[in-house]
Amino acid sequence: MTTGLLRFPAQFLWGAATAAYQIEGAWNADGKGESIWDRFSHTPDTVHNGDTGDVACNHYHRYVEDVALMRRLGLRAYRFSISWPRVIPCGRGAPNPAGLDFYDRLVDALLAAEIQPFATLYHWDLPQALQDEGGWGSRATVEAFAEYAALLARRLGDRVRTWITINEPQVVAFAGHKTGQHAPGLKDEKLALQVAHHLLVAHGLAAQAIRAVHSQAQIGIALNLWPVEPATDAPEDRAEAERRWRQDNAWFLEPLFYQRYPQEIWEAYGDKAPRIAPDDWAWIGARLDFLGVNYYSRSLVTARGDIAPVPGADYTAMGWEVHAPALERLLRRLKQEYPPIPIAVTENGAAFDDTVGPDGRVHDPCRIAYLRDHLIALHRAIQAGVDVRAYFVWSLLDNFEWTCGYSKRFGLVYVDYPTQRRIVKDSGEWYAQVIARNGL
Ligand code: FCB
Repeated sequence: MTTGLLRFPAQFLWGAATAAYQIEGAWNADGKGESIWDRFSHTPDTVHNGDTGDVACNHYHRYVEDVALMRRLGLRAYRFSISWPRVIPCGRGAPNPAGLDFYDRLVDALLAAEIQPFATLYHWDLPQALQDEGGWGSRATVEAFAEYAALLARRLGDRVRTWITINEPQVVAFAGHKTGQHAPGLKDEKLALQVAHHLLVAHGLAAQAIRAVHSQAQIGIALNLWPVEPATDAPEDRAEAERRWRQDNAWFLEPLFYQRYPQEIWEAYGDKAPRIAPDDWAWIGARLDFLGVNYYSRSLVTARGDIAPVPGADYTAMGWEVHAPALERLLRRLKQEYPPIPIAVTENGAAFDDTVGPDGRVHDPCRIAYLRDHLIALHRAIQAGVDVRAYFVWSLLDNFEWTCGYSKRFGLVYVDYPTQRRIVKDSGEWYAQVIARNGL
């Protein structure tokens, strides 16, 4: 019986995502350099419980087992990130052969398992040596990033076809440099805006550097798009939602697609607005082969502030509202307001307080419900003509959730950290069936 099956397009790519600092561990093994997240997590009172990514899921040493898990789930694609300081310990200059070898072996293992690699070049672990020279606030980091991208394209580009330059520039810029919650822990809004601009330029330079090596490469960027929706139809609530959307989301979308910043937000920033060098718009406007969309939740706002909690809504362990319909609205909005572009949902998922039951299994019905509802929303968007080609669950494994340390579990696979045992959660088994049926 196929009654009620929601079928996804043929060739739809089902995947799961991770990031280097969150899973690899081996923080100083085999010549790896220090990253800003090593430095930050080793600083007292930065991360919940004093947790660090020193060991994490020890994926650096267990990648063979982890690729076997991916194969067991039937993943067609895997989005991972490359640790810049693992491959270039000081950020520029001499590469670390052992670090490059690791990603070489990982990619080979993925291809042997018929899993398409999606490589992210920057998922937040800047070499500390570059931070010491000004980090993303400095133009020199932008140039170092392009050299790093070229190195990886030369080393992996014969097998990795799809690249994501930067993960969530908004979070890098603002959590890292305005609120200081993330590495490098700075609190300077003007700097944050300059960093945001440099990240966009770095994206463009890296795209060009990769294409110079492999003209067929497929290149995208992953934006955290967090819709801001008005709680009522009142004009003042709608205006506030729109202002916040433009400040948080359009601040990145407009430069990439239209080579401009949202005018009124720019004006409101006054002398904090970033310096723009003459060629920047040409770099930022480099052709995008696809847009990566990371979606978790939305904000519901009035002119007086956020409605939180939203009455009657469910929440994840992160305190994020579970609200799948906003994913469909987001994707439709992108289609309406920006030029046609293939979309990959590069992250979607939820943390819940998972435990191993007496039967040795991890029953996580809330995560199954979350994923199911979001896939229904995604399917509706595709039916409405949005060109979504791929979907990645965040995350393959429970992992180091930044300032929350190991207290938040997002995985399809449970990780028992003391033993490093992996247990496929019920949601992992469920997702394997979705993939096998190419639908729900
Ligand atoms: C995103 C990050 C990812 C993960 C999820 C929960 O913002 O890209 O690394 O932490 O949130």
